[in-house]
Amino acid sequence: VKALVVGLGNVGTTLANLLLRYRSLLGVTEVVVVKGQPIPWREPDLELLRRRGATVHRGPDALDDLIDGADFVFDCRKEGAPRATRARYEAAPRLRGACAQGSERGFGVPFVSGVNEAALKAARTVQVASCNTHGAASLLRALAGPRLEELERADLVVVRRSEDLGASERLVGASVVARHRDAEAGTHHAADVRRLFSTIGVEPAVVSSDVTTPSQLMHALRFHVAFRSPVAVAEAVERIARDPLLATTMKFDSNGVFELGRRYGFQGRIYAHAVVVENNLLAHGPELRGWAFVPQEGNTLLSTLEAFVAKTRPDDAADLRNALRRELIEPRW
Ligand SMILES: NC(=O)c1ccc[n+]([C@@H]2O[C@H](COP(=O)([O-])OP(=O)(O)OC[C@H]3O[C@@H](n4cnc5c(N)ncnc54)[C@H](OP(=O)(O)O)[C@@H]3O)[C@@H](O)[C@H]2O)c1
Repeated sequence: VKALVVGLGNVGTTLANLLLRYRSLLGVTEVVVVKGQPIPWREPDLELLRRRGATVHRGPDALDDLIDGADFVFDCRKEGAPRATRARYEAAPRLRGACAQGSERGFGVPFVSGVNEAALKAARTVQVASCNTHGAASLLRALAGPRLEELERADLVVVRRSEDLGASERLVGASVVARHRDAEAGTHHAADVRRLFSTIGVEPAVVSSDVTTPSQLMHALRFHVAFRSPVAVAEAVERIARDPLLATTMKFDSNGVFELGRRYGFQGRIYAHAVVVENNLLAHGPELRGWAFVPQEGNTLLSTLEAFVAKTRPDDAADLRNALRRELIEPRW
């Protein structure tokens, strides 16, 4: 399988490294990477990828010639570039699938691993949902069931880290509240969760708010979930512990969680969909409140790899999914 990675920012570069590291597990024969806007100070990254086995292409015109020879495209660009190339991907006869990332709503079926694998079957283009959509959707699924059978409603507050650790452009100096643009869902996080579950015919009553803070480490998610019947803290803890995509911590400080991710995660990332603060749950009858930390891109990278195996290795996708989760997820931080 020839894998093409387009856009070598944070997500694209880490993904290329994951493909190189797990190439035999994933059945990848060639990793081709494209840096559309070459910059002199990013050349060392490209050289490191080349030394690890990637074939490196540079320049805005390099992509078009490579699409027809690829089996799967990981388009990790932003600002609408993947959406603008989507028709080209759809027309490539050899391509088994193409995926874009969080900012590219409309590129393809929204996807979060563990939530809507069924929706991938008919889709050739996939939009891996954002990291906070991963955290929220997976937490609700773990607590309320795969089709959110137990969910009455949920109110989420996303406490965002303002900028990726490797960048400085969007740093803020104080808390900045986001506009509730969606009259039903509030911010885009709940709207994305609704859109995601709609692909399996579920319409959850979820609303969200968002505040961006002067942190670069992890997002945090405050959840307030109302179930159809009472759920005690011990039961909630058990549901979270049973979930293969969630991790737990007893730390209250994202510095400490992030530090363990940096130390033990592949390339310093945490790949669980969310890290729930297990000793800080508050239950009142059918209502549960709590906090989780959300890894900023590890969760979406795992879903990206799982979308890839679903499209390229449908016969043993379940085994490969489990193998990836065993390799990448630590259940406790
Ligand atoms: N960073 C995170 O924590 C995170 C988490 C979850 C999801 N995501 C999603 O992943 C995607 C990429 O994010 P990122 O953090 O990797 O971003 P990034 O580091 O800024 O890199 C994005 C890449 O997109 C390309 N690009 C940027 N502006 C462009 C433009 N105007 N036109 C065409 N191409 C452009 C560049 O590709 P070249 O390298 O080819 O020049 C750049 O390296 C986004 O959809 C984002 O929402 C990010």
